[in-house]
Amino acid sequence: MYYKRESRWYDSTRGFFLFGRDQLALLTANFLADNNMHSILEIGCGTGYMERELRANGYGEWYCGLDISIEMLKETASKNSRTLFLGSDIDNIKGTWDCVLFSYPLTLMSDWRQVLDKGEKLLSKGGIISVVDFYHTSSSIYQAYMNLHQIGINQGTKEYLNKILSPLSTHVLRSKYRLWEYFYGIWQQKI
Ligand SMILES: C[S@@+](CC[C@H](N)C(=O)[O-])C[C@H]1O[C@@H](n2cnc3c(N)ncnc32)[C@H](O)[C@@H]1O
Repeated sequence: MYYKRESRWYDSTRGFFLFGRDQLALLTANFLADNNMHSILEIGCGTGYMERELRANGYGEWYCGLDISIEMLKETASKNSRTLFLGSDIDNIKGTWDCVLFSYPLTLMSDWRQVLDKGEKLLSKGGIISVVDFYHTSSSIYQAYMNLHQIGINQGTKEYLNKILSPLSTHVLRSKYRLWEYFYGIWQQKI
């Protein structure tokens, strides 16, 4: 329901607070290029922002994005005509992928641990999970605002990734409004 309302002006507003996406796209594209890897599955692709960023960094030919919001996917289809986008969640995905990407959907998922476990099982040998999301806020007002929008800021996500995978390059940064921190990075399948 929330994304049904938001989908039309999503891209023009999210640049103001979904920080770290461009850095993650670059980090991911560089890792895949260095390791001769190609296929990317994005869970919660929204309007396809990351696909466009990956393409700008030379990646995207082997990209598949999925999202449970058909409204967001309609916006995606109007902007990214060459790519496969599916209205689905991770349970319906088969095969293996060099990279499973999560750009800000995990804080919306109550079952994020299980989703990350499933993502890990979909990795090809030596593949990576790429994540960017909210990390922490010390502001009770901002926390209340996020709770209102059912966004669960949770430092546990990064720690859980460190547990099930091997961290390769991870970063915690403060947003420019200094109200919250976000994290991004890539984690490799344990070999
Ligand atoms: C904050 S938006 C981020 C969109 C995009 N990745 C970006 O960086 O602009 C989160 C997206 O995750 C999607 N989403 C939430 N739960 C999901 C689930 N269980 N499976 C697939 N997509 C989901 C929402 O519909 C929404 O489009």
